[in-house]
Amino acid sequence: MAHGLGRSNDRPGTVPYGGFIPASAYRRTESSGCDDRVPRSATYRDLGCRGVGSPAAACSDLNRRPDVRACLVLFFAAGWPCVASAVPVTDAEGRRRQRLAFFDDANRGRAVILDHVYDIVTDDIFLRLDEMVPGGEVFLKLEGLNPAGSIKLKTAVGMVEDAERSGLLAAGGRIIESSSGSLGVALALVCVGKGLSFTCVTDPNASRHSVRLMRALGVDVVEVDRRDANGGYLGTRIDYIRQRLHHDPGLVWLNQYANPANVRTHAMRTASAILREIGRVDYLFVGAGTTGTMMGCAMHFRRHSPQTRIIAVDSQGSVTFGHSPGPRYIPGLGTSRVPEICRPDAVDEIVMVAEEEAVRTCRELARRRGLMVGGSTGSVMSALSRMAPDIPEGSRIVAISPDLGDRYVQTIYNDSWVSSTFGSDADLTEAFMAISGETGH
Ligand SMILES: Cc1ncc(COP(=O)(O)O)c(C=O)c1O
Repeated sequence: MAHGLGRSNDRPGTVPYGGFIPASAYRRTESSGCDDRVPRSATYRDLGCRGVGSPAAACSDLNRRPDVRACLVLFFAAGWPCVASAVPVTDAEGRRRQRLAFFDDANRGRAVILDHVYDIVTDDIFLRLDEMVPGGEVFLKLEGLNPAGSIKLKTAVGMVEDAERSGLLAAGGRIIESSSGSLGVALALVCVGKGLSFTCVTDPNASRHSVRLMRALGVDVVEVDRRDANGGYLGTRIDYIRQRLHHDPGLVWLNQYANPANVRTHAMRTASAILREIGRVDYLFVGAGTTGTMMGCAMHFRRHSPQTRIIAVDSQGSVTFGHSPGPRYIPGLGTSRVPEICRPDAVDEIVMVAEEEAVRTCRELARRRGLMVGGSTGSVMSALSRMAPDIPEGSRIVAISPDLGDRYVQTIYNDSWVSSTFGSDADLTEAFMAISGETGH
């Protein structure tokens, strides 16, 4: 995304740099997997680039150089008040790479022009919710604003491109994957974009909206309805996939629960975006489904911000962290089988949240802030408000919101679904009365 870096004082004539790219404005971005050989401080001339007549010419010049393609560059030269940023593209050989695009800062807007729907990832949007922690700063990282509607778009792109790179997935390949909805929708977008076919194995807890979206995108959706030994459906979904692979070895199972590319993607994109955009982070609250986001964040933060306390949030009834299994109704968090990529000791704390509490928090956020989020965000925010009294003043907290609430209008935001699922709940009613009282409605 385009940044507003260096915007305000960089009018022509007031810029101190008469030359080209200043050393201080040239930095490596972890998320882009940029080559370490790229100098951290270099002027445009140091890089041996020539023929500069305009920011656009400089960008295309830099784009031809493999060693500088993943950098964020600010042009402050007199008369060039603009920002150039790296955007992901697929090159003629089908390789993923970053390309510099410049954004004219004077009048021309900051268009981001991308090649594929699945490149539209917003990793730099945070909502302040400071009131959640008195004396603290709270940033909710909104992951639901991309075309797939969830954080899973990054997971899907990461796993598919990893499979392509390793040769597992060839042009026209066929993917099979288990998903409670979000990854399915994300994979559907990626598969359409790349000409791959996709079978999604899901269950009755999947959002109906997600299933309809997948079907609209041409996905073959298979719904298993037998509960596994832990009362969930994951075991049944995986058994089904194994059977299909046995009969049809040409199918490629990405297996988000065991795939290291799931973790790497969130280390390289989600976690590095948080540190890049927010800077110091004292607490990170992250939900655990496959644990790809959690493990990726742990991997990145342990290396680049070891002092950050990482709080994993899971649903009661999930077995991921060794708790007893129980029924769960909201897609997103929780498992009925421990994911292979999960290492519970990678995080500092684990908070288990009842789905009912998550639903209440979702509905409170909608009424108080006009923010409709999915159940996993409700769980994360419930954990945060539970821990808020113990968080020291002045702390900076980031919580990850994996998706928005529009997919859940028939469930989380539907009174009759809530009461038929969780019982006619006095607590829920009391919470709403409390909200109405506070907000005067
Ligand atoms: C809506 C939503 N939130 C959270 C998660 C959990 O993310 P992860 O699988 O990276 O643990 C998922 C996973 O499917 C999800 O669909």
